[in-house]
Amino acid sequence: MNLFRNIQDLRQYLKQERLKAALEGKVLETGFVPTMGYLHEGHASLLREARRNNDLVVLSIFVNPIQFGPNEDFERYPRDEAKDLQLAEQEGVDAVFLPSVGEMYPAQTLTKITVSQQLTGGLCGASRPGHFDGVTTVVSKLFNIVEPERAYFGQKDAQQVAVITQMVKDLNMPVQIVPCPIRREEDGLALSSRNVYLAPAEREAALVLSRQLLHVQELINEGGTLTAGEAKETLLHAFTAEPLAEVDYVEVVRFPGLQPLGDSERIAQDGEVLVAVAVKFGSTRLIDNVILSKKGV
Ligand code: PAF
Repeated sequence: MNLFRNIQDLRQYLKQERLKAALEGKVLETGFVPTMGYLHEGHASLLREARRNNDLVVLSIFVNPIQFGPNEDFERYPRDEAKDLQLAEQEGVDAVFLPSVGEMYPAQTLTKITVSQQLTGGLCGASRPGHFDGVTTVVSKLFNIVEPERAYFGQKDAQQVAVITQMVKDLNMPVQIVPCPIRREEDGLALSSRNVYLAPAEREAALVLSRQLLHVQELINEGGTLTAGEAKETLLHAFTAEPLAEVDYVEVVRFPGLQPLGDSERIAQDGEVLVAVAVKFGSTRLIDNVILSKKGV
């Protein structure tokens, strides 16, 4: 496995690999998994999907400062380079890109992507202003560096998937975005690098998210008559009954357009609907979601 800390060396490596393949009459297809590290089974599943469908797999590990707000957890975001490299090796990654903040953002960085409020005005964008501008800016920089055919993102960050898919379309980026299913612990908790912050009682309390989302999913699958308002009420009721939970949002929107459903609109009558929640347990903000459709989940 090759490890690169600067852009030029990674580009040189990728150029050589592509040239070698071209000399053999082949086109080398690259699958890319961008992450902020502290890798878990969710990331491993993205790497396996990339490995299955590409000749070369590139993983980036970069805690991107510009997607964190001033009072968020950039400084304390968990980091474990040695463990991440071990997981990458196990998953057969060809190249890991581990740049410093200075490498990604040299002193004079004056250009940034701005995403329309139409996609970022609700859900996480509402409580994290500027977050998706930071995400799209770093992801587009990484795409320009790696030039992958395919890039893999977890569906837990459903709004991120919608925003990046739209960015690629709007800016004609030659990369296919591949969303991958949420990975969960055996008891249902969605895997997240931030789960490590949870005290045992908070972790136990956090199970209310997956249990209640699953409950809404079952109601839809069984009867299909639940309205957006009823779904939100069911979730809010359960979350507010949990003393350690502090609700940030409970939203029901179309996917991938993210337009909110009216409270009286029925879920899963046509197209896909995203039921998404963000809830704080102590100082840890967790997100989770289900995507529902007429055909079932
Ligand atoms: O989902 C993440 O880990 C990050 O938002 C990403 C896509 C790596 C950009 O920093």
